[in-house]
Amino acid sequence: MTVHFIGAGPGAPDLLTLRGRDLIAASPVCLYAGSLVPGAVLAHCPPGARIVNTAPLSLDEIIEEIARAHAQGQDVARLHSGDLSVWSAMGEQLRRLRELGIPFDVTPGVPSFAAAAAALGAELTLPGIVQSVVLTRTSGRATAMPPGETLENFARTGAVLAIHLSVHVLDRVVAELSPHYGADCPVAVIWRASWPDQRIVRATLSTLHTAIGAEMERTALIFVGHSIGAEEFDESRLYAGDYDRRYRPVGTHPRFPESES
Ligand SMILES: C[S@@+](CC[C@H](N)C(=O)[O-])C[C@H]1O[C@@H](n2cnc3c(N)ncnc32)[C@H](O)[C@@H]1O
Repeated sequence: MTVHFIGAGPGAPDLLTLRGRDLIAASPVCLYAGSLVPGAVLAHCPPGARIVNTAPLSLDEIIEEIARAHAQGQDVARLHSGDLSVWSAMGEQLRRLRELGIPFDVTPGVPSFAAAAAALGAELTLPGIVQSVVLTRTSGRATAMPPGETLENFARTGAVLAIHLSVHVLDRVVAELSPHYGADCPVAVIWRASWPDQRIVRATLSTLHTAIGAEMERTALIFVGHSIGAEEFDESRLYAGDYDRRYRPVGTHPRFPESES
C-alpha cells in the first residue's frame, strides 16, 4: 500500500502528468483538496473508488482516512492543485505518515506560476533584464510570513515576483512594490490560468487598480517585474552563431571538437 501524492496541475485536466493519471486510475481511494482540482481529473478514479474532498477535514481527519486505507491495504491518490513543492500542506502530511510508517511517493504537477506564464506567452527570465523568479506570497490568516521574506526585500533584487495567494490585497502589493520597481513597471494578473474562465489583466503598477475594475474571483497569480511583456532584451548567447558549444563546435579551435561529442 502506498499513498501517492500527486500534483493535479493548475486546472486544465490535460495538464496532469501521465504518471499522475495512471496512479489515480490504479488507486481505490482518492483524497482531493477542494475546488481547485477539476472534476475531469477525478474522472480518472476507478469505478467504485472512495472519493473524498478534504477541504472541510482537519489534518487529523485526513490522516484517519489514510490510516483506514492503509489498514485495508488500499492505495491512496492524494491530489493537491498545481505542484506539491509549494503551498500544498504536503509537508505536515508526510511527517505524520513517516511517524506512522505508512509508505508514500510524490509525483510532481504543473505549478500555477508556469501555467500563468504560459497563458501570457511569456518567458520570465529574459537575458539582460531578469534572471531570477521569486515564488512568494503575502501573509494570510492561516500563515504569517517569516520576518525577512517581505515583498520589499525581494523587490530589492529586481527579480520577477510571482505572487500567490494575494490578489485580495492587491493595493497593498502595489504600494509596497512601487518604490522599488517604479510606477511604470509591468504587472500581469492571471485568474484561474488554464481554466475555461481564465482571465488576464496586463497593466503597470500605477494603472493596475483601474485596469482591474470590479473585484473578481480570488484564485489568481500576480507577476511583477521588468521582463513581463518586454521586447527589448538580449538574445541568448547559447544560440548565437559564433558561440562555440558541445553540440555546435565553432571556430578554428573549438572547446569540444566534433570527435569528442
Ligand atoms: C494554496 S496555493 C497552491 C499553489 C499550488 N501548489 C501551485 O503549485 O501553484 C493557491 C494559490 O496558487 C495560485 N493558483 C493556483 N492555481 C491557479 C491558477 N489556475 N491560476 C492562477 N493562480 C493559481 C493562486 O495564487 C492561489 O491563491
